[in-house]
Amino acid sequence: MAVDLVEKIKALPLRSQTPLTWGPTALADPIALLIDHAFLEMKAAQNAMELMTRWPNDWTPGWVETMTSVARDETAHLAQVTRLLIRRGGQMERGHKSFYAAALRALVRQGKAGETLDRLCVSALIEARSCERFYVLASTTTDPELSQFYKALFSSELGHYKVFLKLAHKMAPTDEVNRRWEQMLDHEARILAEQPPGCRIHSGVPA
Ligand SMILES: [Fe+2]
Ligand SMILES: [Fe+2]
Repeated sequence: MAVDLVEKIKALPLRSQTPLTWGPTALADPIALLIDHAFLEMKAAQNAMELMTRWPNDWTPGWVETMTSVARDETAHLAQVTRLLIRRGGQMERGHKSFYAAALRALVRQGKAGETLDRLCVSALIEARSCERFYVLASTTTDPELSQFYKALFSSELGHYKVFLKLAHKMAPTDEVNRRWEQMLDHEARILAEQPPGCRIHSGVPA
């Protein structure tokens, strides 16, 4: 793996590091992993579209542009994953639950002043963790096509993590953003550690 990629992973603020041993477990059933991944991309696109009109009371420059751009990227990723899935004989399924994402969303202060800030923090966290997971998958798969695919998604998700956090800093005072972000980072590591291992992007690490 290129040195600059490793450096970028090390620079992520995540509170836990995914060991390379997680990779083969998640990749045990590549079709199941692609299905989970497709839902993840779809939800990321929906999330960006949903956040589109939720700028804070004052108009936040760059808000709509960021959300349209993220939604476009995620839709493109979804198209790539589903193409790969179908070419490999798999198919999309109806219904999908991500307990990891649901637990993170439960941290959002619904209907309260901090709701939008929390949603941006959760979005940034999911992007940062996905980025880290794509790195591990790209490093451990023995399938050159999958390795290339996961590597290609890495930079895009890294960019998304940064823009969500940047928007958070545009809409709230630095102290408030930093305080909430630090709390959320702790929660994220705890929630991820509670997930069972399996063929999912946000599954737990096998014992
Ligand atoms: Fe994506
Ligand atoms: Fe993303």
